[in-house]
Parts: sequence; structure tokens; C-alpha cells
Amino acid sequence: MTTLHGIGDLVVALRELGSTLQPVKVAGTLRDVRIDERTLAPYLTWAPGRYTRNLVARDPSFELIAICWEHDARSAIHDHADSDCAFVLQSGAITCENFRIAWREARENGPAEVRFTGARTLREGQIDMRSGHLSVHRVGSSGGRAVTLHVYAKPIDACMTYGEDGTYAISHSRYDTVPISAS
Ligand SMILES: [Fe+2]
Repeated sequence: MTTLHGIGDLVVALRELGSTLQPVKVAGTLRDVRIDERTLAPYLTWAPGRYTRNLVARDPSFELIAICWEHDARSAIHDHADSDCAFVLQSGAITCENFRIAWREARENGPAEVRFTGARTLREGQIDMRSGHLSVHRVGSSGGRAVTLHVYAKPIDACMTYGEDGTYAISHSRYDTVPISAS
């Protein structure tokens, strides 16, 4: 993790992967990438007790989002719709808790049960990869603020979230900030 890149360089590198991003190529592009903080700063916003999703770039084939995790921020337990997702940790530490769907009722918002299968804490430059409806996890900061860069290919507008109350629901994605050029 030595070379600093501008965030624009990362967008160019992702666009060069073509209209269908292969997960292995996204992983190779993200692994150990360190973005120059001066170019990342416009995409970093913070909110007490939660994480913020800051859009960097969006094409039909992928979206790149900078996620800023407050020290106590944690995602819902969620799947990844019909997309591939990869992220690289830029700063701080992040814990990924993995789950397996034991069962769920077919009807929307019905009961479901997920079972914890293990956790992993990432260091700066490390990546995590997910794919599809059966890939279920929860992500949270691990002892301080953290920044991650996520690539969703294709962009995810809604996914399933699994609640502590034993139900699941469709959750629509939103951005906290978007670049002026994309708004
Ligand atoms: Fe995820």
C-alpha cells in the first residue's frame, strides 16, 4: 500500500473494466489502493451514530461510493441484490459479520432467520467482496472513524435487510451526498 492515487484515477480504472465488471478485476483494482486524502476530502461527510453514503461516480455498470463510518456506526444485516460488491478500507478499522440465511418466508416482509457464521476485521488496504442475494453480512466501524470505498456492479438501488426482530424487508438505497455533476 504505497502508491497514492487521486480518486479520479480510480474512477478511470473502473471504467476501463468495461460494461460488465468482473469481480476478480474489481478486486484487483481495489486491493491495496490508497487514495490521496486531498482528492477524497470532498466526498467525506459525517453524521453522529451512523454512516454516510457519498456518491463518487455512477454509470449504468457500476457505482463508486465513499462510506464514512462514525465510531459507533453499523449497517443493517443486508444482502447485495443482484450485484457484486467490493470495498477497500481507506482508514480506520472495519468489522464484517457474516450470516447465512437459514430460512425466510416467501412473502415480502415475512419472517426470516439468519445465523451468524463468523466475523473478520479489516485493516487499511484490505478488501471485502460480496455477491448476490445469498451473500449476507453486517459491516461496522471497529473502534473509531473509518472510511471505505465501495464498488457496486451494477448499482444497487434496493436490497434486503434482515432485522433483529426476525423479519426481512426491502430497503431502498440513498445517498447522503452526490457530486454536483451527478445531481
Ligand atoms: Fe454489504
